Amino acid sequence: MAEKKKRDHFGSKIGIIAAAVGSAVGLGNIYRFPCMAGENGGGAFLIVYIGIVLALGLPMMVSEFVIGRRSQRNPVGAFKTLASGAKGWPLIGYMGVLCGFLILTFYTTVAGWTIESVYKSIINYYQGKNLAEIEQGFNDSINMTFRPLLWQAVFIFISAFVIVKGIEKGIEKYSKILMPTLTVILIILCVKSLMLPGAFEGMKFLFKPDFSKIDGHVLISALGQVFFSMSLGMGALITYGSYISKKDNLVTTSLMVGLSDTFVAILAGIIIFPAAFSFGIRPEAGPSLAFNTLPLIFNQMKGGYFFCLIFFILLVIAAWTSALSLFEVIVSYLTEELKLSRRKATIYSSVGAFIISILAAMSLHNDSSLTIFGFTVFDGLDKITSMVLMTLGGLFTVIFLGWKVKKQDFEDEFTNGGIVNMRLKKIFYFIIKYLAPVAIAVIMVSQFII
Ligand code: PFF
Repeated sequence: MAEKKKRDHFGSKIGIIAAAVGSAVGLGNIYRFPCMAGENGGGAFLIVYIGIVLALGLPMMVSEFVIGRRSQRNPVGAFKTLASGAKGWPLIGYMGVLCGFLILTFYTTVAGWTIESVYKSIINYYQGKNLAEIEQGFNDSINMTFRPLLWQAVFIFISAFVIVKGIEKGIEKYSKILMPTLTVILIILCVKSLMLPGAFEGMKFLFKPDFSKIDGHVLISALGQVFFSMSLGMGALITYGSYISKKDNLVTTSLMVGLSDTFVAILAGIIIFPAAFSFGIRPEAGPSLAFNTLPLIFNQMKGGYFFCLIFFILLVIAAWTSALSLFEVIVSYLTEELKLSRRKATIYSSVGAFIISILAAMSLHNDSSLTIFGFTVFDGLDKITSMVLMTLGGLFTVIFLGWKVKKQDFEDEFTNGGIVNMRLKKIFYFIIKYLAPVAIAVIMVSQFII
């Protein structure tokens, strides 16, 4: 008989929150959210975003936690267990593991840039350079063959270092140190940014709702952002849910995680826009703002060396704790379903992610012909995961919980056996069974039409 090993669990409520917020708060919050908010009507986007977080994001987060904790398994095992032998459902879990792996491959590339930027900040590289020079330096770095790979490898190594230690002594312990650090850095940078002359213009840009900008495109962008930002639809939170103690309240946990995630995204906007406006820089989208414009701005401020350095440390921490959850999806699958040791599972997933991430990194070279579906491998992986795998995963997850899992199982987990959340039970179940599947399906389809 195979010996049943006791599963590792989170040791404390604060540990769960730190780890789950760590998963959710990542590169998606710190540069993607502010840019999307800026492009899509500022405050109006924010209102739509918060609406989707409350109406769909939170119920979906609860769903993943319910499935994970009920089954006590990794995403593949979870669907196998709760589908009681019905074929097909575990495919959602396999899709999640694949999605986690694919996200890792391009996420580690960007994470590598954040470490490179920490290094550049330490050696005071940005001092005295203008925007064109900083941009040129960034492009040169990306175009190098080994250097980006070295930083990627360092990032994967520090992630693997935590993962191999397990849940309580690894993910939880490190998240409990890293997340408060991240919060302190965020607050320092917000205060600094708000004190700049002209900061108010930036705040207006971020918060003043321009309702005329709300259209189908804004809705879709907001939904995609909610999925990515809250780490939904690919089993990360099923996995974390499976390590949550039976005593913890899944609804309040989700509420804290979801709201913290949204709050951090807003704080990131409060750092970026006032700073950009104060220096007369129009906020443009994507990596350039975080990796080039901000160092330029910081280095024109008093104490800029320090602020620039802590900003990039913030990005590393955000990326690191998110990557842990991506790794954990794969590692939990390999250890539980394929019976590998945790050490082997960590090594295989790290080496595998590194090899594919080489393609992602190289595809960004100016002379590269590495493409999929007409995109660079880097962009292609990003699009396949966020537009197809995560949304499909999310859709099938709520359908599974609403229509396949026994209602009693849902209720037991949701209410901790009838003790908590009794009044919310009906409304959440309604959302999970009807509203969420329809809303996600409609938005998914229109995503392709647009
Ligand atoms: N939520 C992370 C971010 O906002 O950067 C990205 C992410 C992490 C997505 C973990 C999915 C996941 F499972």
